[in-house]
Amino acid sequence: MSAAALEWILAEALRRKSARIGRPAAAPDDDRPLEGRALAAIFEKNSTRTRLSFDLAMRQLGGAPIILNAADLQLGRGEPIEDTARVLSHYVDAVAIRALRHESLTRFASAASIPTINGLTDHTHPCQIMADLLTLTECFGALDGLKLAWIGDFNNVARSLLEAAGILKLTLTLACPEEYGPEPRDLAKARGAGGRIEIFHDTAAAATGADAVFTDVWVSMGDSDSDRRRTVFPPFQVNENLMAIAATRAIFLHCLPAMRGEEVSAVVIDGPQSRVWQEAENRIHAQKAILLWCFGAGPA
Ligand code: CP
Ligand code: NVA
Repeated sequence: MSAAALEWILAEALRRKSARIGRPAAAPDDDRPLEGRALAAIFEKNSTRTRLSFDLAMRQLGGAPIILNAADLQLGRGEPIEDTARVLSHYVDAVAIRALRHESLTRFASAASIPTINGLTDHTHPCQIMADLLTLTECFGALDGLKLAWIGDFNNVARSLLEAAGILKLTLTLACPEEYGPEPRDLAKARGAGGRIEIFHDTAAAATGADAVFTDVWVSMGDSDSDRRRTVFPPFQVNENLMAIAATRAIFLHCLPAMRGEEVSAVVIDGPQSRVWQEAENRIHAQKAILLWCFGAGPA
């Protein structure tokens, strides 16, 4: 995605969010830009926020959401994903997929003739990061000049944050255990795009002076090495000691669901610097702009 497209999505999300203050959750926006359009959202893994936000986003845009568990489809009995993609391309106008394996998403997208949205894979979670960028914009007025810090596992959410830092030329420091850090090619891609990226294995080095501290669970959906992870990650907890060395104005972000006492202390996630509930709400507003962009609005 281009910087112009990403910036348009953030601006459109903010504009629509402020235009519907006080409106009931499923009441459509005045212009109902997706009236008559249908989105199918398919989930191979659990979801609360992504499922609800795609559903509400479509209703608020005047369209129809169809939310499906992959296990209930013939896909769950072995129907090829390409055949599912071809059939759905005749039924609906766009698809969002939460896939166990990233390859399933790309195979679906290759066979589909309609827009296919990544609703999280083991590789990336771009819709989450768009909601996070929206939250940062609301909290600080602009993204330029912010120092962002990612603490913990270099997982799907972290990879999307790194990709966004490249596209928007943001300053991002990561503190990850060596065995759960980014690949050189991940760093090279973001740096090559213009991101100011640093990587440490020490949380204090990354968090010092940060305006926003991000983390996520130590064990993501589909990770099979949970015992190993629970021995490696404890020094990477975001707690009040770590937040104390971030900037005075620093905020804490987490995509949720969170494990209090593991990657984040209850004091931090439930404390005054936490913006996680605003961040979760912003999934709806970001999703709406993402959907509009997929239907042709905004720059390419
Ligand atoms: N943050 C996020 O994607 O949450 P869900 O897994 O509940 O969708
Ligand atoms: N990294 C987490 C994000 C959940 C929204 C996972 O993939 O389980």
